[in-house]
Amino acid sequence: MRRPLVRALARPLILAAAAAAIPLLSAAPAASDGVVVGGFPVDVAHSPWTVALSSRDRFGGTRSGQFCGGVVVGPTTVLTAAHCLSLDALGAPPDQVRDLKVIAERTDLYTDQGREIRVSGTWVNPGYDSASNAGDFAVLTLAESLPRTAAIALAAEGDPAYAPGTEAVVYGWGDTTGFGAYAHSLRAAQVHVLDDERCERAYPASADGTYLASSMVCAGEPQGGRDACQGDSGGPLVAQGRLIGLVSWGSGCGRAGSPGVYTRVSDVVRVLGLRATPPGALAAPSGAATMP
Ligand code: ARG
Repeated sequence: MRRPLVRALARPLILAAAAAAIPLLSAAPAASDGVVVGGFPVDVAHSPWTVALSSRDRFGGTRSGQFCGGVVVGPTTVLTAAHCLSLDALGAPPDQVRDLKVIAERTDLYTDQGREIRVSGTWVNPGYDSASNAGDFAVLTLAESLPRTAAIALAAEGDPAYAPGTEAVVYGWGDTTGFGAYAHSLRAAQVHVLDDERCERAYPASADGTYLASSMVCAGEPQGGRDACQGDSGGPLVAQGRLIGLVSWGSGCGRAGSPGVYTRVSDVVRVLGLRATPPGALAAPSGAATMP
């Protein structure tokens, strides 16, 4: 039951009905207490690169208008998922969503803590393919700068953080149950990077998407339980201090045998010509601000 998160937010009743209609697919339901399902609460001060995308116009004001996650990779540059900015998600082209903002330094969406920064530019990967979900990334340019220290380093191709079995953490304000219980407060879940063969077996060409190792990485737990979920899209998957993935898609949330699929950040780095950070070096993200 993969579903772009924003659509889920826009039509929670339909989502709930659909979820209820396919219990057979949920034979191994998530241990549902977490982000992110199976997660734990975190303070955004510990992951300052994690931001919320917001439009109160489109999604209502209750949860600060949050509808997706994003990742700070430079003072005025945020990465997110392409599908977060799709017509399907927003109901309008992103440049027509006048109150599109990035919310930084706010752990609890029910507060006015932190900063809301206007998005002055959006760039959606023209190579994004909504059938397979390949190339699911977009770049937001911010109207004001965040501190340089908020940015996270990016993993390049061959980064050891992509080795199967590596511990990784995913962050977000998304559904904590798989049934539309959106978090008030930021959560994180610990998962493991899985090997490509396993992800290819989990997701051969299907209505949900197709696992393509060149542009995706998948992560989860063999027994399920910990995963990203609707509302987390565009948010960070971090391993060894570097950004390795952006929440993209999956079948359900936290199901055994259906790991979370993430946009492979090393592919984003390649396509955008960004500067990645070698393991052990100081963070030096940059470049995306001059994107087309
Ligand atoms: N497409 C969802 C979103 O837009 C993300 C789903 C991730 N699912 C998962 N099982 N990891 O928020």
